Amino acid sequence: MSTSAQTAAATGRAPAQPDLLTVRGLDVVSGDRTLVADVGFTIRAGERVGLIGESGSGKSLTALSIVGLLPEGVRASGSVRLAGVDHDLVGAGEAAMSRVRGKHVAMVFQEPMTALNPTMRVGRQVAEAMLVHRTQRDRRAAATAAVELLDRVGLPDPQAAARAYPHQFSGGQRQRIMLALALANDPALLVCDEPTTALDVTVQARVLDVIVRGVQERDAAMLFITHDLAVVATVCERVLVMYGGRIVEAGPVREVFTRPRHRYTQGLIEASNLDVDDRGRLATIPGSVPAAGRFPAGCVFRNRCAHATGACAERPPWTDMATGTGYACFHPPTSEARHD
Ligand SMILES: Nc1ncnc2c1ncn2[C@@H]1O[C@H](COP(=O)(O)OP(=O)(O)O)[C@@H](O)[C@H]1O
Ligand code: SF4
Ligand SMILES: [Mg+2]
Repeated sequence: MSTSAQTAAATGRAPAQPDLLTVRGLDVVSGDRTLVADVGFTIRAGERVGLIGESGSGKSLTALSIVGLLPEGVRASGSVRLAGVDHDLVGAGEAAMSRVRGKHVAMVFQEPMTALNPTMRVGRQVAEAMLVHRTQRDRRAAATAAVELLDRVGLPDPQAAARAYPHQFSGGQRQRIMLALALANDPALLVCDEPTTALDVTVQARVLDVIVRGVQERDAAMLFITHDLAVVATVCERVLVMYGGRIVEAGPVREVFTRPRHRYTQGLIEASNLDVDDRGRLATIPGSVPAAGRFPAGCVFRNRCAHATGACAERPPWTDMATGTGYACFHPPTSEARHD
């Protein structure tokens, strides 16, 4: 069965959705340090794609490049194209990006106060977002739609919630408000950067559920950044594995998680399966993530990889650029692969 047919079988969706987001040759640089290098991937309309990798791998900077919110002093080059937008998002000015952000692509951050205005009632914030992009025709209609949306994301007493300020809510409720803000204009792509990581464990699953439901109801696509491989397995169809500012492996979630082809992916999966080893320690990949822009030449994982050879001093080629499925490793774990 082909990859697209497998995806269709798993999701019930027709296989040939058009490309929505196309990232090619994305570099993010700060001074002389390259923080994201030659990142390329595609997300199809309605597709949910996970982005995983340890802290410092370049996941957030990749996401911020897509929504045009890179921090001061950090520059992107390459290309980020979004269907329905007639210009490249890389290099677009703030005026152009403010027409795209919210309407075509929206982002949910780990920390909701990044996106919320502390001095404005939450109903007004959601309503204003709709008015800016003309999703609602007037203030009255926008106010009504805002309350409906606050209800949809599961805020109790949405009428009262609309009149309250962000600081009057718990962390989980604020995350729901930020989601309402992100979904206010029905964006075709929602980018989520560890949206539940800062929340109480008991709240995480409920907030995740409301995010996924919001995306599915709108047939929106999603790029979902998380540390949690189990969440990716539940929520996403495809996964991108990032390390050292590069995508090192990509493919359908089930394929990548049962038969990883990059030694880094293999390490991540082993660390997640064995939460605690026989001495009660947390299992992790040996060594630590190098500082920004200080990854080894050749394979970026070389200084931590038990399988590295002299060949790994060269940059491993990506195996299958055309389909966006593949890996960049000279010695993939084929011998241990499951044959099913
Ligand atoms: N504003 C910045 N200036 C310089 N370096 C940065 C900046 N933001 C992030 N970095 C560095 O870039 C690397 C990638 O960061 P990030 O994308 O946040 O990683 P992740 O989200 O995978 O944890 C990290 O080493 C981080 O320290
Ligand atoms: S290319 Fe070499 S160093 Fe890199 S992950 Fe594969 S085996 Fe390890
Ligand atoms: Mg991050």
